[in-house]
Amino acid sequence: MASSSAPSSAAVVFAVNGERVELREGDVDPGATLLEFLRTRTRFTGPKLGCGEGTRPFAAISLRGCGACVVLISTYDAASGEASHAAASSCLTLVHGLHHRAVTTTEGLGGGGGRAGLHAVHERVAGFHASQCGFCTPGVCMSLAAALAAADAKKGKGGRPAAPAEGYAGLTAAEAERAVAGNLCRCTGYRPIADACKSFAADVDLEDLGLNSFWRKGEAHASKLPRYDEGSIGVFPEFLKAEIRASSGIEECMPPALVGSASIWHRPRSVEEYYKLVGSELFGKSRTKVVVGNTASGVNREAEVYDRYVDLRCIPELNSVSKEAKGVEIGAAVSISKVIEALREDGGCNDVVFCKIADHMEKVASPFVRNTASLGGNLIMAQRDQFASDIATILLAAGSSICIQVSSKRQTVMLEEFLQMPPCDYKTLLLSIYIPQWTHVGVLSDCRSRTVDRMVSTRGTSVLFETYRAAPRPLGNAVAYLNAAFLAQVASDGTTSSLILRELRLAFGAYGTQHAIRASNVEKLLVGKPITISLLLEACTLLKKSIVPVEGTRHTAYRSSLAVAFLFSFLYPVTKEIFKPVKAVHLNGSVPSGTNGHRNFGPNERVDASLMKINNVKSASYGNDCILEYSKQIIEINKDHLPVGIPAKKVGAELQASGEAVFVDDIPSPKDCLYGAFIYSTKPLAHVRSIGLDPSFKQLNTLGVVTAKDIPEGGSNVGANTIFGPEPLFGDLVTQCAGEPLGLVIAETQKIANIAAKRALIDYSTENLGAPILSIEEAVRRCSYFETPPFLLPQKIGDFSKGMAEADQKIYSAEVHFLCQFDQWIQYLRCTFLQVNLNSQYYFYMETQTALAIPDEDNSIVVYSSSQCPETTQNVIAKCLGLPCHSVRVITRRVGGGFGGKAVRSLPVAAACALAAFKLHRPVRIYLDRKTDMIMTGGRHPMKICYSVGFKSDGKITALHIDLFINAGMTKDISLIIPHNFIEALKKYNWGAFSYEAKVCKTNTVTKSAMRGPGEVQGSYVAEAIVEHVASALSTDANLVRQRNLHTVESLALFHSECTEDDMGYTLPSICGQLTTSENYQHRLEIIQSFNKNNRWKKRGLSFVPIVHKVLSRPTPGKVSILNDGSIAVEVGGIELGQGLWTKVKQMAAFGLGQLWTDLSQELFDRIRIIQADTLSNVQGGWTTGSTTSESSCEAVRLACNIVVDRLTSVKEQFQEKESNLSWDELISKVILFPILIIVGRYYPFNITSAIACLYLNFVDVQANMVGVDLSAREYYIPGPSGSYLNYGAAISEVEIDLLTGATMILRSDLIYDCGQSLNPAVDLGQVEGAFVQGIGYFMSEEYVTNSDGLVISDGTWTYKIPTVDTIPKQFNVKLLNSGFHKKRVLSSKASGEPPLLLAASVHCATRAAIRAAKEEPHCSGSGSSSPSHFDLEVPAIMPVVKELCGLENVERYLESLLNSK
Ligand SMILES: Cc1cc2nc3c(=O)[nH]c(=O)nc-3n(C[C@H](O)[C@H](O)[C@H](O)COP(=O)(O)OP(=O)(O)OC[C@H]3O[C@@H](n4cnc5c(N)ncnc54)[C@H](O)[C@@H]3O)c2cc1C
Ligand code: FES
Ligand code: FES
Repeated sequence: MASSSAPSSAAVVFAVNGERVELREGDVDPGATLLEFLRTRTRFTGPKLGCGEGTRPFAAISLRGCGACVVLISTYDAASGEASHAAASSCLTLVHGLHHRAVTTTEGLGGGGGRAGLHAVHERVAGFHASQCGFCTPGVCMSLAAALAAADAKKGKGGRPAAPAEGYAGLTAAEAERAVAGNLCRCTGYRPIADACKSFAADVDLEDLGLNSFWRKGEAHASKLPRYDEGSIGVFPEFLKAEIRASSGIEECMPPALVGSASIWHRPRSVEEYYKLVGSELFGKSRTKVVVGNTASGVNREAEVYDRYVDLRCIPELNSVSKEAKGVEIGAAVSISKVIEALREDGGCNDVVFCKIADHMEKVASPFVRNTASLGGNLIMAQRDQFASDIATILLAAGSSICIQVSSKRQTVMLEEFLQMPPCDYKTLLLSIYIPQWTHVGVLSDCRSRTVDRMVSTRGTSVLFETYRAAPRPLGNAVAYLNAAFLAQVASDGTTSSLILRELRLAFGAYGTQHAIRASNVEKLLVGKPITISLLLEACTLLKKSIVPVEGTRHTAYRSSLAVAFLFSFLYPVTKEIFKPVKAVHLNGSVPSGTNGHRNFGPNERVDASLMKINNVKSASYGNDCILEYSKQIIEINKDHLPVGIPAKKVGAELQASGEAVFVDDIPSPKDCLYGAFIYSTKPLAHVRSIGLDPSFKQLNTLGVVTAKDIPEGGSNVGANTIFGPEPLFGDLVTQCAGEPLGLVIAETQKIANIAAKRALIDYSTENLGAPILSIEEAVRRCSYFETPPFLLPQKIGDFSKGMAEADQKIYSAEVHFLCQFDQWIQYLRCTFLQVNLNSQYYFYMETQTALAIPDEDNSIVVYSSSQCPETTQNVIAKCLGLPCHSVRVITRRVGGGFGGKAVRSLPVAAACALAAFKLHRPVRIYLDRKTDMIMTGGRHPMKICYSVGFKSDGKITALHIDLFINAGMTKDISLIIPHNFIEALKKYNWGAFSYEAKVCKTNTVTKSAMRGPGEVQGSYVAEAIVEHVASALSTDANLVRQRNLHTVESLALFHSECTEDDMGYTLPSICGQLTTSENYQHRLEIIQSFNKNNRWKKRGLSFVPIVHKVLSRPTPGKVSILNDGSIAVEVGGIELGQGLWTKVKQMAAFGLGQLWTDLSQELFDRIRIIQADTLSNVQGGWTTGSTTSESSCEAVRLACNIVVDRLTSVKEQFQEKESNLSWDELISKVILFPILIIVGRYYPFNITSAIACLYLNFVDVQANMVGVDLSAREYYIPGPSGSYLNYGAAISEVEIDLLTGATMILRSDLIYDCGQSLNPAVDLGQVEGAFVQGIGYFMSEEYVTNSDGLVISDGTWTYKIPTVDTIPKQFNVKLLNSGFHKKRVLSSKASGEPPLLLAASVHCATRAAIRAAKEEPHCSGSGSSSPSHFDLEVPAIMPVVKELCGLENVERYLESLLNSK
């Protein structure tokens, strides 16, 4: 860290965790982000790189923040002496822009890092079991910390408590939850994170919080929580305050760099200075970037490197907010968060327009982006880059104008006009934005300049204002499919009670248009007329023709229908036929507002109640409106094998929270380290004539490209290997898919390597090559299959034809015999109605694929790899480099999320890294950027399934035949086991007779690999789809059909013959009984029916889904070593991926060694340390996949402990003949000393000291029997032939859909999962919740999109929507069932990692039930498919899919029906 006490004149001075940093010109690249700086130039690695540059917020390829890099940035105001704090994404914040700021990372929260102490934030996150892999955890902690610091700073203001009770912070539970709304976590399912946050809230009932390590249920008390001290976050360093005070009045900001100097960072202090700077010759020649928050950096960052930056934040004019009676003028550089505050007037909200603009802005990005993102930056992006801005739309509707300066000319233009101007360049400076106040005064629609008088009396009119956005996440943090804002001045026509629109502004944006627009033709149609149903219908029809997305936009019809839905929502309540004024309408007045639950009426309360309701201004902001309403966790603790069985806190949770935990990319880069980035093919099938780097880009100082040609003699082009064979590391000559690695660019920094790889020039040719196979259909047509070994295919059951003959009703798919004849292919296509099509899902582990390879002596290499299978990584690297395995050491400490993606798919990354290091004789590091990871890594297997099913009239299914087609991509990977997994999970029901055919298709798409519940999630879901189809054919409740076809013990034995169960073991019927036979369930069904009857535009559905999931235990090693001081090191084959493997292993080691302890003390537990996997230390580590590695590792450790215990017991017994109650330390020290003393005694019997002599005499007695004790034992656990068993669980989910937008809200999910005798119920509960939420992502939101070449285009956080805290069930209840003793399983436990993911199908099925209810409405019936009861609901059931099934024209049809009924 560059640091000195005396600042130089051109230095940037700031603080990181209280330490002074001084950067001089040239110290750091001008485009360096704070994240890069922290991670490469300081020892702080808490802020993580999760999505890389958080944003490319443009059009369809934009990225979005993940929150892994969040830090706290504090600013000190010398005049007031106050510091303010805000969360910021360090991946977007430029380090040069931090002058006089204080940065706090998670290490700084606890006063300098994990070892120096933990903050209550760290301890509570750990204690609420809110971290699993821990990669997101530092970011989560900092988002929470920022909210706490901000609440402390605003204490007593805006309705906040002046003095919250001791231990609590002055924020509400709702605010605490929202603090982490922008943080992505792929592991936990968010519920425990939300609870950890809410534990700080002043209004929380602690008993409502979930399972934690602070109290037992019913004993909650604040005193049991780690203490939170107000003001303990973001303490502004005194030295920096002094420097700021010393410089204030002289230089508010840094002096602007002189024109002509070599400066790279310029801070003009006035508009004039700006123009002087950018007008200079120097700027003409260099690549210059104008910035404020730099949050728009993504698109250009990937392809551009800048020489100079001009920071606009020091121009006072751009930073001021001035409020006057007529409106508010906001400087362009003011952050969105500050704009929200200003519009709300510190929590109050006396103007409907301001208030709603502020509400809407709260859905723009996430808090940590809004804190730095400027209002002006957003509008410039909207104007210049066609950015799908929310802000442009809402300000357009509000009649805003802007003040710009173009060179020396200053002008005020309406926003509408500005958006239509040619894209502005750096000569145009946006100075300010003016939002008029509408409540008391009106604005002339042709108001073009500030000189125009806005004071048009609007007495007799009232303002209606509303904003809308339809986006996958309700709280924002997702680009909208369409946004809209409408402003209307309405007046009573005086004679009738109908309302007339005096002025109307209808703004729409983000729907696939250049910029936000006003629907002027619709406005014209509506203004001046009484609003009637027929006029509204006319307006809707006209609007649909106006809001047409540009070609290439996805979901075009849906977006147009949204526009209509929003207009309808806005105007329908004021149509003549509907509007019923409560009293005489007083149309001029203000609206109540407030915040934090305190009503804060404005001066005038005369607004008519009915209009107020229509305006729907919240009487409070989200004061008490919690995202998660309720949760319950029920666990049972088994005390037979303590400490196994207790809900122990996750090992290393505090290390993760405080940033001390070391992931691969946190290992400091060794001297001379180089960095690699993959060049991948963008063509699915093409000759690669050449690969080159962009010569025009001189800054890209690369060391070249490593390709297959660089593989050393004796090595081979191998990048992965499975039991089905190897696959190449780099594509050669002809590409096999878009996304195939072709080479690795090597450069001095990761950033340059990434940019160079993206700009690589590849010369393709498709000469003499046929068309690529990009779909299952094409693969079937061309017979492109991988052959599945017959032994991998599960048995068929009974005689299908006989079963069909017994059926009362049959549903047939066309017969497919897997013959490649065109006529049959046509038949196959015809069976579309009976098909289920399932797409892929991306892993979205928070830590992308990464490796660090370091050449070692004697032609050997050490590779740190984020891998679920280090042993295979070792083998692959050895094969690739032509080395013996003993020369390849692979080390894995922890993995930042795997979900199957860090198994086979991590191998090419490690192999390429090792190859480059081997070739260049220098360390090489690879950390894939998110986009490359998403494109290259593949994911879950897409499938197509056709089925024929026969059933009785009572719902009993008698026969099922499945034709299964799996898209494996270009290589086999593990795809040949997918049919097995699919069929095993599908067999959860008794199908009567069951037969199937399965084909694994080879296509020119990226290789698909195992992803959590591989094949099983699809198999289990398809079973539900068939059951629902049967139910709809019988017009009966699907849940009855489910119940009817659940296995008996006998049928279970038939379908799963290798895992027979007795009545006790087969717990599924009892689980289902608990969930569905309760009165509560029936009652809920009735409530739903009544809700659906009474609500036209919202419908609810409830569904119940059982699962049977087979797992297989595999052999695993465990090694236990007792060291000289009695501490214990444990090594296992399994890798800690976040699934709590280390925690369970530690508990098991304590249980195993506890046999030598008189009491089961915490002390033994604390002495045990689980250490990283090292392929040269603990061989045959195997694969950490399939949910059973934790228990296998535990068992291996238990067996190893037994060996050590046996050895020590005999020693102990011998010693105890002399000394009773030998403690652990005494025992170990004697055992350690024993062999030494034997030797000493042998050679120096008369020279030993008296103390040793004493001991020696003791030993002499036992000497005859002992020759020394080996304190290290290793055992290889082999599960034996009965290594597989079945897991059971069931879930009920209830959802609500919005028929206008297609939005789905999960109201409640109740899960019961049989965990056997859980080894650690807290860990297993976390796995259940986390897997369920990951499943929600698959079924509801994660749209995996490819282009026409098969290249993945949902390649970032913007376009790929994993669940966030606002999309999980609002009520989330989980019960772990303890199914008791079972001798075949490890201490009677069961797996929890993957099976619960399958339960998320309940959300999809509940959505289907809600859509079915919607289809009963006349305006929705007949939409989407011909049958109202059976229809295909795609996976994922995203908003456009739901809306389409509910009718894209449902609004028009409804209005027509009203007209017809007159
Ligand atoms: C993760 C993420 C999510 C987002 N989600 C949303 C969303 O849901 N809805 C939405 O509307 N927006 C969204 N945004 C966009 C966000 O609001 C903008 O990125 C931000 O407001 C830009 O401000 P900035 O200060 O960071 O601009 P910068 O990145 O600093 O600058 C942006 C561009 O504007 C130019 N510029 C900036 N200020 C001026 C000025 N005064 N005069 C002339 N040129 C100027 C710069 O030169 C640059 O080219 C999101 C952004 C991110 C990062
Ligand atoms: S790494 Fe910064 S937001 Fe994802
Ligand atoms: S714990 Fe949140 S991503 Fe793993």
